[in-house]
Amino acid sequence: MTQSPTPDPASRSSAARAASLLARLKPSGPATFVRAPGRVNLIGEHTDYNQGFVLPAAIDLEIWMAVEAWDKPGVELTSLNLDETRSFEFDGLAPGGRESTSWIDYVAGTAWAMREAGLPLRGFRGVLDSTIPMGGSGLSSSAALEMAATWALADPAAPRPSAPRMAAIAQRAENAYVGVNCGIMDQFASAAGKAGNSLLIDCRANEFQVAVIPAGLSIVVCDTGSPRRLSSSEYNTRRSECEAGVALIAEREKGVTALRDVDRAMLARNRARLPEVVARRCEHVVEEDARVAATVAAMASGDLAEVGRLFAASHASLRDLYEVSSPALDAMVEIAAGVPGVVGSRMTGAGFGGCTVNLVRFGAEEALRERVLSDYPARTGLKPRVFVVAAVDGAGPMATPTA
Ligand code: GLA
Repeated sequence: MTQSPTPDPASRSSAARAASLLARLKPSGPATFVRAPGRVNLIGEHTDYNQGFVLPAAIDLEIWMAVEAWDKPGVELTSLNLDETRSFEFDGLAPGGRESTSWIDYVAGTAWAMREAGLPLRGFRGVLDSTIPMGGSGLSSSAALEMAATWALADPAAPRPSAPRMAAIAQRAENAYVGVNCGIMDQFASAAGKAGNSLLIDCRANEFQVAVIPAGLSIVVCDTGSPRRLSSSEYNTRRSECEAGVALIAEREKGVTALRDVDRAMLARNRARLPEVVARRCEHVVEEDARVAATVAAMASGDLAEVGRLFAASHASLRDLYEVSSPALDAMVEIAAGVPGVVGSRMTGAGFGGCTVNLVRFGAEEALRERVLSDYPARTGLKPRVFVVAAVDGAGPMATPTA
């Protein structure tokens, strides 16, 4: 999405945010509010499109929308962040044919995908405000916009499909309409998040279980201030390399349709038949899937040293085998690793810039913030941002926010 100044979420009360949405909407009748969170992935990177496992949490950097029903078959939506109003009609929505992507395409694409899925649409006028850093920070502002749109567009009288099903519809909007070849993780996390917890998502079955984040830990997100350059072309290359690995392994092994089906022994048996780069990509995915299961087990037993080791191994693998890290991400992880109370630190999301995710003992958050704000600019020349976030529930309607 387009770069814009992102307001500090702590700088305004809920009531003030809601009031500014209503002041801009000037509804002629009753207005409702919907919210949709961004996400941070704890571990399980580049595994979703390999039908594997991921462990994200929905976070309290969110999109809020004030909405009123419209008698026209279409949408008129204002972004307070961009100070821009865009509209579209439901008739004639179709993928392709656009020269560039605008934020409203994520909403139009969601309308298109919902209609394709046979869901009735209602027209609406709305105003949105986002505290999710945009412009390539990797906290899924696009998925949050899609999930907010599913709630604003849905006919309130019609039955609503499950959160995983709605996530799949929003993913289709992004893949087929917007043209971004993402996996299911971001939409799923924004749709189905559980307050205080992470979600263990099985990206083949499109199902999840709640995975409790150990008591006494905060999630701290550090934005490198370097947007994800090259991310979509490199992302698509990684996907093709994984598919190439699957095709070669499936020639010799029964029942392999995705890297999800490949274990260590199978990869070792077939490694010599794979081009070296493809073998490294496959090794990352196979080991990363195993690290997700190991992290869930370590979190459940409170083995924080093991969680830290798994985060470090994930980051090293993304840097060395999958090659999606960046000097800025590596510097951010190295700085965090030297701060007492930081349990684990790794890049999160697609990579090539964006954010790191850190699990930090209560009380150590400010030490991490101070160290990042002093050491990171000196080392990289870039301006970081540090967010102490909470895991929150997934997207949905909300009562009129109060202070
Ligand atoms: C992006 C995509 C996700 C996932 C991650 C990498 O965030 O949108 O589907 O593939 O990259 O784990």
